[in-house]
Parts: sequence; C-alpha cells; structure tokens
Amino acid sequence: MNVMSLKPRILIAEENPEIRDLIVMHIESEFNAELIYAENVDHAIKLINNTQDFSLIVAQYNFMGKNSSRIYRFLTENKLEIPFILLTQQFPSYDEMLKGFLLKRIQNVYLKYPVKEHELVEEISRILKIKRPSLREQFRRIRGNKVAFFHKEDVPIFIMDHTNKYVQLTHISDISNDDDFYFVPTEKYAELSTKINQKLIDTLTSDAVPTVQKFEIQVDSINKIHSSLLDLGLSREEIELGQAVHRSSVEILSKNKRMSKLIGSLMKYQKYSSELIMMTNYLSVAIVGQTDWASDNSMQKLSMAAIFQDLSLQNDELVSIASTDDPRFEKLSEDLKKEVINHPAKSVALIHEVKPIQDVANNIKEVVLNHHERPLGKGFPRKLTTEHLSGLSCIFIMAHEFSHRLLYEKINLDILKKIADDFESTYSDSHFRKPYDAFKKIFHKKNIIN
Ligand SMILES: [Fe+2]
Repeated sequence: MNVMSLKPRILIAEENPEIRDLIVMHIESEFNAELIYAENVDHAIKLINNTQDFSLIVAQYNFMGKNSSRIYRFLTENKLEIPFILLTQQFPSYDEMLKGFLLKRIQNVYLKYPVKEHELVEEISRILKIKRPSLREQFRRIRGNKVAFFHKEDVPIFIMDHTNKYVQLTHISDISNDDDFYFVPTEKYAELSTKINQKLIDTLTSDAVPTVQKFEIQVDSINKIHSSLLDLGLSREEIELGQAVHRSSVEILSKNKRMSKLIGSLMKYQKYSSELIMMTNYLSVAIVGQTDWASDNSMQKLSMAAIFQDLSLQNDELVSIASTDDPRFEKLSEDLKKEVINHPAKSVALIHEVKPIQDVANNIKEVVLNHHERPLGKGFPRKLTTEHLSGLSCIFIMAHEFSHRLLYEKINLDILKKIADDFESTYSDSHFRKPYDAFKKIFHKKNIIN
C-alpha cells in the first residue's frame, strides 16, 4: 500500500478501554491511519463485510464474550487477505477457527497481551510496509487528548511550528484541540509507555485486588442477571442469599493461589462461563431453599459446584455446549469432543486441591461430575439414569439446564413457556420430583410455570 496516497484503515477489537487507549496512542504516535472500533465480534464481522477494505485487524482473542477467531474464520471463508494481529496471553492452538493462522506469518502475528509498544509498532510497520520515522526522530507524536496525561508525568510537550521546528510549550492550558497532534521526546514516550504497560499487567494479574472484587468488576452483567431473575419470580431475599453464599465460596476458594488465578481469568475472559456460574448459583440455592434439604451447608455445596463445574474448561465456546445433542458438538474434532466429555471429571480433580473444603468435597464432586447428566440417561459422561442421582445433583442439573437455556436462547415469554413445558415433561419424575416442585415454587409467582 502506498502510504503517501492512502491512509491505512485499521479495525480495532479490544474491550478493555485502557488497553484500547494505549493501542490507539501507539498507532497514532507513528502512523497516519484511520482507526475503526468494533463493539463486539459480530459487529467486527459486519464492518468487514460492509467495506472489505481494511488494511489490518488488531483484535484481542477473548473479545466481548466471544473469541475473535470467528473474525479470522470469516476472513478465510471469504478469501479476504486482511492481515491480523491477535492479542492473547498464549496462542490458542486448540482453536480450530485459527487453523492456518500461523502459517501465514507474513501477514498474521500474535502478540502477548496486553501489548508492548515497540512490538505493536514494529509489526504494524512490517505488515503495512510503512517505514518508522521515529527510529531516527527525537520526537513521538501524541494527540491533544493525551497532553494532560504526559504533562502530569513531567514530560515536556512540543509543537511543530511552520518551519517544521519543534517548539516547547510553556502553557499547557493553551491547548484546546483534542484532535491536534503534539510531540514528546521519544525517550520519554518509551519510558512512560513501559510504565503504563507494567501497571496494566499488574492490574490484570494483581493479587492485591481480591478475587471477589475482580469478579464483580468483570461481571458487568450481574445487574442484568439480578433483574432477569427478579422478572422470573425470584424474590430479593432469594437473590441476596444467593449472592452471600456465592461471595463466601469465592472467598474460601481464592485463598488458594491456583484457584484464585483460574477463577480470576475465567471471570475476566469468559463471559458465558461467568454468567453460568452466577445463574446456576442463584437458581440452585433458591431451589434448595424451597426443600427440607435447605441449610447453609447444602447451599455452600451447590454454590461451590457452580464455580467448579467448568473450571477445567477455560473456553466459552466449549463450555456453552451443554449437551452432546448440540449440533456444534458433532462438528468438533475428536480431541475437543473428548475435552467436552471429560471436563466434569477434570473439574472434579481440581476440588482435591483445595484443603479447606475437603469435609464437603465428596458432595461437591458428585454434583460437579453429574452436571451434564440428564433424565433417562440422556446426559454425559456416564449417561446415568435418574435413580442414580442424589437430590443435590438433581437440583443442580435443573439449575444448570435452565441457566444454559436462559443464557443461550433469546429469551422471550414464548421461549420461557417452551422451557417450562420441556421441564414439566422431563423433570417431574423419580428423584427429580421433589426438586421440580421446589423449582416451580420459585417461579409460580410470575405464572411463567404453572
Ligand atoms: Fe459443564
């Protein structure tokens, strides 16, 4: 591409506003590019489909609850040769949609998330074949909206006068236009961007921020979950109780370093899994509350099981396959099929690692191992029939199935009625009878389930 005649158009798909800001700052400091922002994976695909003339895509791997490998698959399916910079902690080699990504190294590259300034700029200049002026230059360019930030860090700010000389600004308050460009010494720019980067990495991996708090920052949809549960008929008390039990589970588990890390990264990157944890937690605690099994102990077990259920499967795409009847299951590779089938057992193995819960571990294990079992032996991994499931397992299975459908299907009143009918025909027998009656009690207030 001839840079002099045409501005490259770069599509940016990054959900963390601070990191997005940093990426933009780095690109603008070097290149005259038109930057376009995607709101989510589907939006990105729509933008590409509409114009098809992007010069480059810079995308975070886990982007707004979906994997941006879908964007890449869209490119390959449509034979679009748009270079792709994937930002990720680790290259997800298990992701089938990224097949062939690394073979095209000339145009595709993955960079370690969040992203280092020199790596990003070097790759962009290599891919777009734009020479980096600042390798020789003393100054880097910044936008007006970044001036205050650099100034606060005691970095001198310059403008370029009409004779192309850099003149230092003495009164920062003179700056009025956010869109204008200013200049800062290259050395200072590099120093500060390293500092920001380190700060970002610290925040992303910090142990100082308690997991409970991280959880609540990440699950921005928690209010949405609460209000949809209220709409369905749960009372405020039931929601508060569910929340209290959940908090205490996270607190216990996050004392264990490995668990804290696993839970933290799941919350951060896996939207479906996080919401599934919350939903199954609230529902199973509320259901058990309507039975004579109700106790702090049984609630804690269910809430722990909600967290552990998919902890061994850190990939939303796989977690959201609730049944082997899901058409997406058949399309998986043999390895991934195995991963799905084996994840309950693998999650159970993680329970061993947490000492403080060993007293109740057996119950939690049973519930986690069975969370994909279904009535009449239709589930997995063991295709157990109903008589082999404990009461707590039955409660959890119903909560899991209901949560999955709430999160996965576009909910409206008709769908809810359909789910209710399905439940009536599937879950009202044998060991499910008592949990099902309790389940109905929660929802009868809104007449969704008769
Ligand atoms: Fe699962």
